Amino acid sequence: MRDQHKTALIVGAQGVIGGNLARHLETLDDWAIIGLSRRGGVSTGKIRHISVDLLDPGDVARKASDLTTVTHIFYAAYQDRPTWAELVEPNLAMLVNVVTAVERVAPGLEHVSLMQGYKVYGAHLGPFKTPAREDEDNHMPPEFNMDQQAFLQTRQQGKSWTWSALRPSVVIGTATGNPMNLAMVIGLYASMSKERGLPLRFPGKPGAYDTLLEMTDAGLLARATVWAATNPQCANQAFNIANGDLFRWNEMWPKIGRFFEMETAAPLPMSLKVVMADKAGLWQQMKEKYGLADHPYEAVSSWAFGDAVFGWNYDFFADGTKARRLGFHGYVQSDEMFLSVFRKMREQRIIP
Ligand SMILES: NC(=O)c1ccc[n+]([C@@H]2O[C@H](COP(=O)([O-])OP(=O)(O)OC[C@H]3O[C@@H](n4cnc5c(N)ncnc54)[C@H](OP(=O)(O)O)[C@@H]3O)[C@@H](O)[C@H]2O)c1
Repeated sequence: MRDQHKTALIVGAQGVIGGNLARHLETLDDWAIIGLSRRGGVSTGKIRHISVDLLDPGDVARKASDLTTVTHIFYAAYQDRPTWAELVEPNLAMLVNVVTAVERVAPGLEHVSLMQGYKVYGAHLGPFKTPAREDEDNHMPPEFNMDQQAFLQTRQQGKSWTWSALRPSVVIGTATGNPMNLAMVIGLYASMSKERGLPLRFPGKPGAYDTLLEMTDAGLLARATVWAATNPQCANQAFNIANGDLFRWNEMWPKIGRFFEMETAAPLPMSLKVVMADKAGLWQQMKEKYGLADHPYEAVSSWAFGDAVFGWNYDFFADGTKARRLGFHGYVQSDEMFLSVFRKMREQRIIP
């Protein structure tokens, strides 16, 4: 029998991060799992899905009223907005609403885990200091991750629960309907290039092909997240989490080409958001031709995110030794990660 003495509340359970965290927790014996999102999901013996609008404090309070057993909140919800300033208000509100509602009903709350990213180092603004270390999270706002952390730090004062924050690089995993999903960007772009008989061309900015970067496997991140949330030495701290190897696209891109059985050709800078905007018809034809799962084109298109990532013509990595010093020794080989996620996307009939 499963000894479920801990209850995880995954906030954003349909996300590329939250979904993969749910799949990891399902493999562990001692967790009951509840997932929150607007779209909800099919509850199973392992996870109970609840549909809620986190932006609506009344809805959150109502749906949270029976979440009395929650011991760990894993916060990985995200609302996309066009500017850095506009991201702050909704993303802070969702965290405040859920922590407020759960604190009220769950006397055994032990921990709140917050998913952040390298935006805390200003990585989204331009060339930032690398390797970025956890205590270098100090740049001019607006930046919602830091507002969320400041809220937790203040709210935690005098409480019996602790918090931790995870700072992954670009997260690679399977999911649909996500604004930030690089595996989906590459998988679709490669498949659609191939369908048109084109070679695989890196679409990023000049220079971005040759810079040094790192990424974070969603499964590795899930393991690190649970580790940080359940080890007392991690309380009230932030941790960079990445695969542990660095790469350049100039080496990775041909490997991706080989996986898709495509020739690679010289990079050609282009905005995927612009050039892929008129390709919904091609995608529809491919879905019919190859018997793919019926996801709408918008649910598998994170083109703007692709433009952002492929626009990084500066080094993009952080120092991952703090987590290692405190006991998390997981790593993933980045080329293997890409190929394994593309294989999963094929199994799930997302790409041909
Ligand atoms: N993806 C990456 O590569 C990456 C890298 C570094 C850091 N991060 C950070 O990690 C966090 C999570 O990102 P993600 O990419 O996993 O996000 P995501 O895939 O877009 O997932 C967001 C989740 O939040 C839920 N959600 C959004 N609005 C909601 C609302 N009003 N009420 C209830 N649920 C709502 C979504 O489900 P519904 O749509 O069904 O509501 C989904 O489950 C973000 O802070 C992001 O900046 C992401």
